[in-house]
Amino acid sequence: VQREAFEALDRSDPLAPLRDKFLLPPGVINLDGNSLGSLPRSTAARVSRVIEKEWGEDLITSWNRHDWIGMPQRVGDKIARLIGAGAGEVVVTESTSINLFKVLAVTLKMRPGRRAIVSDAENFPTDLYMAEGLTKLLGQDYILRLVPTHDLRHALGADTAVLMLTQVNFRTGALHDMAALTAAAHAAGALAIWDLSHTAGALPVDLDGAQADFAIGCGYKYLNGGPGAPAFVYAAARHHGQAAQPLYGWLGHDAPFEFATGYRPATGIRQYVVSTPSILALAALEEGVDLLLQAGLSELRAKSQALTEAFIALVEARCAGLGLSLATPRDPARRGSQVSFAHEHSYAVMQALIARGVIGDFRAPDLLRFGFSPLYIRNVDVWDAVEALRDVLATSAWQRPEFQMRAAVT
Ligand SMILES: Cc1ncc(COP(=O)(O)O)c(C=O)c1O
Repeated sequence: VQREAFEALDRSDPLAPLRDKFLLPPGVINLDGNSLGSLPRSTAARVSRVIEKEWGEDLITSWNRHDWIGMPQRVGDKIARLIGAGAGEVVVTESTSINLFKVLAVTLKMRPGRRAIVSDAENFPTDLYMAEGLTKLLGQDYILRLVPTHDLRHALGADTAVLMLTQVNFRTGALHDMAALTAAAHAAGALAIWDLSHTAGALPVDLDGAQADFAIGCGYKYLNGGPGAPAFVYAAARHHGQAAQPLYGWLGHDAPFEFATGYRPATGIRQYVVSTPSILALAALEEGVDLLLQAGLSELRAKSQALTEAFIALVEARCAGLGLSLATPRDPARRGSQVSFAHEHSYAVMQALIARGVIGDFRAPDLLRFGFSPLYIRNVDVWDAVEALRDVLATSAWQRPEFQMRAAVT
């Protein structure tokens, strides 16, 4: 196989025109779009407009005149179309961690008498920490029960209030079967919460079809909303108005501008909003989401599977005998849009790769992690990234001292 074959694939890629809508630095391949998505070309102009016109000139009247107040729900309704949710089921607000706290608390209130939150021991740490913090706050024998992935079904029982999972494993890229696990949770009388941080914008999700109860996810990964972009939260319409999430912020009140002394929860998804939204950040996120809405989700998934498939095959062919072993499921149906390889010196190898313009990341203890955002990663990028990896390994370039120093963020 030669580079030209990959260039030919790019020429017939139906998503190729969307790549031009991103500002991609020359000589850099962003294989970390699963952590921080690339910058849409339209974002800077949009944010400048919001700053100069809406904020600078129209000042506080913009809450009405430019519908700032409606942005959390407007952008939420757009994200809903990417994750199989209906209008009015998703809102953009706060962060993924905070939103998880809200929906976890709701599920515990909806299942009084049940004291266990069940999760995968390999779940993303913030999810586990938020659950741990909530169980400690509540006391009364609430527990977080962590089990290996293959034991999840057996861990569900009469004491289980909620099954809390991240659909794509952040280390390995392994994909949970959302519909089957949600059904298992329901069969046990429990609810299901899904963290879609590594799913939304990369593959089709059908929250309503899977009968999921609640979901949350990040705006800065495949949604390309920018660093620290606000997060989204989904609550199935059938659960609206049942238990209120416990962070009683004024913008989740039924009538915030009554300024009443007591809290009265809004009836719809807006009850999940706590604070005044960050309008600049929401505007940036909306640009990223609007781009995704121009792509077909099944086309995104097909391209993502082709990219990860080609990457695995090329690494195994071109880097054979260089100390790499695949940590991601081989079956493309069982993985998200990332591929991880274990290597004894993965930290230094990744630093050397980044120095060559191939940006992936390192995940302790030994993983090289590569994300493939199908909106802007080309087939030829797969070829070039693997050639760079082969060079770093074959020449032992990673042994240079500057690649050994650990930075604060890995
Ligand atoms: C699965 C998952 N959940 C949550 C987060 C982060 O949450 P927050 O935006 O609150 O920092 C991440 C970040 O990488 C993640 O991968």
